[in-house]
Amino acid sequence: ASTLKQGEFVGALDCGTTSVRFIVFNKFADIIAQHQLEFPQYYPHPGWHEHDANEIQQTSDQCIEGAVKALEEAGWSKDSIKVIGITNQRETAVAWSRRTGKPLCKAIVWTDSRTKNTVAHYEHKLQTTGIQSKPGQFRLGQDGVDALRELTGLPLSTYFSAIKVRWMIDHYPEVAKAHEEDDLLFGTVESWVAYNLLGGVEKNVHIAEVTNASRTLLLNSTTLQWDPRLLDFFELRPSILPRIVSTSEVYGKIENGGPLSGVPIGGLVGDQQGALIGNKCLKQGEAKCTYGTGAFLLFCTGNEIVQSNHGLISTIAYQAGPDAKPVYALEGSIAVAGSAIKWLRDSMSLISSAGEVNDLAAKEKDTGGVYFVTAFSGLLAPYWDSGAAGMLIGISQYTNPSHIARATLEANAFQTRAIIESMKLDSGVDLKDLKVDGGMTNGDLAMEILANIGGFNVVRPEMRESTALGAAICAGSAVKLYGWDLSKPETLKGVNDHANTVFEPKSDEAERAKRHTEGRWLYNDAQQKELRR
Ligand code: G3P
Repeated sequence: ASTLKQGEFVGALDCGTTSVRFIVFNKFADIIAQHQLEFPQYYPHPGWHEHDANEIQQTSDQCIEGAVKALEEAGWSKDSIKVIGITNQRETAVAWSRRTGKPLCKAIVWTDSRTKNTVAHYEHKLQTTGIQSKPGQFRLGQDGVDALRELTGLPLSTYFSAIKVRWMIDHYPEVAKAHEEDDLLFGTVESWVAYNLLGGVEKNVHIAEVTNASRTLLLNSTTLQWDPRLLDFFELRPSILPRIVSTSEVYGKIENGGPLSGVPIGGLVGDQQGALIGNKCLKQGEAKCTYGTGAFLLFCTGNEIVQSNHGLISTIAYQAGPDAKPVYALEGSIAVAGSAIKWLRDSMSLISSAGEVNDLAAKEKDTGGVYFVTAFSGLLAPYWDSGAAGMLIGISQYTNPSHIARATLEANAFQTRAIIESMKLDSGVDLKDLKVDGGMTNGDLAMEILANIGGFNVVRPEMRESTALGAAICAGSAVKLYGWDLSKPETLKGVNDHANTVFEPKSDEAERAKRHTEGRWLYNDAQQKELRR
């Protein structure tokens, strides 16, 4: 007989941009077992960024296997995992065949900016015909790129998925053919991974979770349904679309023959919304910023959609069950955060591990006049300039690698500050405390720089796997494990309630404003255009 102990745990599969991890939590959010693996990134041309959807799936399966093995090695039976949640990089578009269940091309990643011309085409369409295709249909008028905001909360940008799937149909004959023949299935990463875990082509469970769907440009953010006017506008057939599901409900049981076959999947959530939930920022006025590949600041606005006039996006934060009212958030998305550090490591060889950036930057007390605009694939919020160029500027004979490392950490802080300022203008709330998580927050210096440039307290929890914890909370809530209920934040008391480290700003406001003004012109659209001439 097995000597393994029986527990009550929840699993979370976190499918990020560069790595996948599977984490097993107990009811206090202590990590009982985990396994993490990186997977290949493809950059075939400047501005392109692709994933192989099969590799995402294989890596996910391996992470589940690895974590289950670690759990058993720690003395626990795998039956202790009662339910799992999935959280994922958002916007990345996957196209596969209904007939075979196989991907039809590489997935186009959220950072990919190859679709600039597609965006320009639809910008023109918005300005000339508006969103209408059939006589008598609703028309949004001639508000240019912002016209879509009214329906979706999003601007027209290379960032969002509809543009990516449109590009696939326009450029890959096999995708065009599948679209024509109603064989094409489109999904973001949670949709693809759930499809496979829930039985693949045999079961054909084609679902999309609502926070992920709110990143496509196809979801009406008020009705939480795909909007036919948007499908018409982007010339997409309804047959490509998954069925929309909430953030927390049982979607089915795992049926892939792996170690967790038979376990229910009870949560699906976009990773940034996952981190919002994991940080328990569930009520209006609460905010967090996650510094992963990119950085994403989400500010919960409760049941109300706040439309941004200052370059932020309105997004769905979560829907606690199929009949629950959605909770919304304002989001400031920064495309490049940790990936700039990865670039210092892999392309520039200035450091040999990501954490070293803090040691290198600490060798100098300032950047020696260097600024780094990390616009590797244009700029997202609040600038939305898909043509913006990356710049390292202010270099002299005096400049050394430490200055550049420090400027990289500052780039992050400048962009965060710009987003906090927009958030204040949109919501009237001046954030005093910002909860943070993600790989970049491991460095104390990075956090001190953030507090000094931002002028707010940076609050860093001890257990920072907030994204995975968010998915675990969604999954646990769906089956009422531990009495958790996503729609009742008080039921989550005791979950990850460890002490936080707080970094307070040490600079004065005049000094901060001066640095910010100096840095800010670099992000200015006119200046960027001047430089590109
Ligand atoms: O919107 C993109 C975001 O979901 C990616 O997150 O953590 O992989 O940088 P991350």
